Amino acid sequence: MKRGYLLACLRLQLSWGYDNGAPHSRLPPLGWSSWVGLGRQWPGPGGQAPEFDFCDEVSVKLSVDAFHEVGLYDAGYRHFHLDDCWADHERNASGFLQADRQHFPNGMKPIVDYAHSKGLTFGLYTCAGTYTCVGRRPGSKGHFTQDAAVFAEWGVDVVKMDWCFSDGMEPEPTYTAFSKALNATGHPIHFNMCEWGKAAPWTWGPKVAQSWRATGDHVPLWQDTKKVIAERSQIPEADAGRPYAWNDMDMLETGNYRQAAHANGKTGNMTKEEYRTEVSMWAILASPLIITTPLLNCSKTDQIAANFTPGTCRPSITPLQRELLLNKEVISINQVDTPGGRLLKDFGAWMVYIRNLAEGSVAVALYNPSDAKVDARLDLSLLGWTSGTVARVRDLWAQQELPPAKDRFPTTGSLDLEAHATLLFRFDKQTSELVV
Ligand code: GLA
Repeated sequence: MKRGYLLACLRLQLSWGYDNGAPHSRLPPLGWSSWVGLGRQWPGPGGQAPEFDFCDEVSVKLSVDAFHEVGLYDAGYRHFHLDDCWADHERNASGFLQADRQHFPNGMKPIVDYAHSKGLTFGLYTCAGTYTCVGRRPGSKGHFTQDAAVFAEWGVDVVKMDWCFSDGMEPEPTYTAFSKALNATGHPIHFNMCEWGKAAPWTWGPKVAQSWRATGDHVPLWQDTKKVIAERSQIPEADAGRPYAWNDMDMLETGNYRQAAHANGKTGNMTKEEYRTEVSMWAILASPLIITTPLLNCSKTDQIAANFTPGTCRPSITPLQRELLLNKEVISINQVDTPGGRLLKDFGAWMVYIRNLAEGSVAVALYNPSDAKVDARLDLSLLGWTSGTVARVRDLWAQQELPPAKDRFPTTGSLDLEAHATLLFRFDKQTSELVV
């Protein structure tokens, strides 16, 4: 018995990805990024576009505090990442990356320490090529050992490495080399590769990284959300994600309208149901759930600060963001160590996605990317369940128990699945004692 158990554990461990001791990496990272979550000067001087992907010591510390105050920490979020905003445009005299000297006069270490003191896992961004993508800050090309050393010295827990200005470079050897440099520091760092899924990173990523972008950049437009879901659905079932090896569908843009358009240039236009689809599909497909939501309201008239000043900013997310991003039952189907979810059945207009949660327990998403309402009904035999099976059904968005389903869900009639909507359920196969 004991031997069998040990062998089972060993098999399980072998099928996991790369555990190098980095925190909050066994399950899909759950957190926040500065990408479009911080911004200044909206509208910019003379109505210009506001400052791109901004961060500074004051705004970052306020955002760490707000992370707690708006309820992210309580809902299970732990990662706090700065994207392409933090580095100085020049390396220091010894060739090391340094924090933007104007925005971080005390350097990066006190910021990392502050996030840690509030229980957060801290991430920074770099790029494999000559420059970073948008900030045109120094890239890591030719400096892998130095950059890994500086991240480790500051106590950084996560590094995202982008792929811009990488002419002539190959993703697999490049990311493998940086992974080795990170691990050679002896400080455990979660490595998030960002080559947009171009070289099938799900096939070689598990050896060198804990997560990787499986798709292109995600912006808050319905066509784009739909495209990311379709691209992610192409990944073979065997590579759908497992502990320490997650396919990243990019950041969640949930409820980002005008206030978060500064970095990606796109003012969000999605409806609440479309944003619900976004969160549902990212969750069931076991993507990291990294939200890029403004957490601070610093002026009376707009969500975007004219400037971040302690005392004038208050922690704030919108009611829509609260409803869609803090639902613990929805988050729970993402935060399990079973393989990532997959497309089970394509009915043309609508689709069924599943993720096994445990023996006899499965998360089910009914997803309608089409532009018309459909009547949806699910045959439980599709889940491999034999005729006569009764399942308890829970509506995860409503956090409500529905009548049990026998053979089909719903057992009689059908569900209205609106255009662009997703319904999310948990099915638990009833044991004989529970069967009614
Ligand atoms: C690329 C990445 C984005 C973001 C920007 C920063 O486009 O894919 O996620 O990090 O660069 O410049």
